[in-house]
Amino acid sequence: MIGTTAVTTIERFIIDQEHKYPEATGELSNLLYDIALGAKLIAAATRRAGLVNVLGAMGTVNVQGEEQQKLDVFANEILKNALNHTGRVCILASEEDDAPIPIPPEYPAGKYVVMFDPLDGSSNIDSNASVGTIFSVYRRVSMEGRGVMEDVLQPGHRQVAAGYILYGSSTMMVYTTGQGVHGFTLDPTIGEFLLSHPDIRTPEVGKYYSVNESNYARWNRGTQMAVRGFHGDTPERIKGKNSRYIGAFVADFHRNLINGGIFLYPADTRNPSGKLRLLYECSPMAFLVEQAGGAATDGVRRILEIQPDTLHQRVPLAIGSKADVEFVARMMEEHGTAAV
Ligand code: AHG
Ligand code: MN
Ligand code: MN
Repeated sequence: MIGTTAVTTIERFIIDQEHKYPEATGELSNLLYDIALGAKLIAAATRRAGLVNVLGAMGTVNVQGEEQQKLDVFANEILKNALNHTGRVCILASEEDDAPIPIPPEYPAGKYVVMFDPLDGSSNIDSNASVGTIFSVYRRVSMEGRGVMEDVLQPGHRQVAAGYILYGSSTMMVYTTGQGVHGFTLDPTIGEFLLSHPDIRTPEVGKYYSVNESNYARWNRGTQMAVRGFHGDTPERIKGKNSRYIGAFVADFHRNLINGGIFLYPADTRNPSGKLRLLYECSPMAFLVEQAGGAATDGVRRILEIQPDTLHQRVPLAIGSKADVEFVARMMEEHGTAAV
């Protein structure tokens, strides 16, 4: 067999989607290609990581006090360079930078705001496990010139696009512009993302639960009771599940999106707001999961309705299959969110 001649590249798919909206200018499509290009460069670097000695710590610490890995720094630079010169973006923000990233003065500013977690799951790098990139796109709210903090601190329901790239056994890009969730797999032989998962729908009830259970004793009672339900302790209330936890949000999220499941990073006594960041991790994944028929909550509030106060704000997160996320919210209501 020579191979199929009818493939849909990400470029063609985005153009076809856009043609449904006569008022569209093509700018958002171009922005998504910019990100896809960045993703290919990061994918290439992660594939070579073990060979070119870019593994290991840089010896610097980022704004969250975490050790930065070399690939974090590289991925961050790649995405900034892919986005900052195009005239499509007025401001950027990254998990790896303490302040919003202005567009350099020599380049024009555009109408979009892009935020990203350039390399998610970076502690997995040294053990050759999956990592990812998460991105989130908003329309600016300021009128002109360079973007300002107000452009960056918007609630998730205002996103115009969001997605992730998973550098796993293959590289996948999954995104939404509010018209469903679509997945593309990178064909390394031609360097193109090809449509492999059109219109992803996540099962109503999940097969898996994913949580760092070493924190169990530090969770509030509502979280403990929810996870006991997932163990199968209350079968009359929720289906018991299998446990899967990679420790890289993108990889855990992707598996659960496809197979059905729930991912939690709840509050605990050491991390009173959980660990994941609202703007770079929770909001974009919440937009995706809702578009796929799932749900996302901090236990009390819908993630997409949370108004961020600060750039690097963290929130507790329960995300995935709808029935499972609703169960978590019910357990919070019945057993409380007070620290144990
Ligand atoms: P990042 O590498 O971007 O800092 O994110 C790491 C996050 C996330 O990917 C993962 O779900 C979580 O940290 C795992 O945390 P624990 O090691 O506390 O389970
Ligand atoms: Mn992350
Ligand atoms: Mn990261």
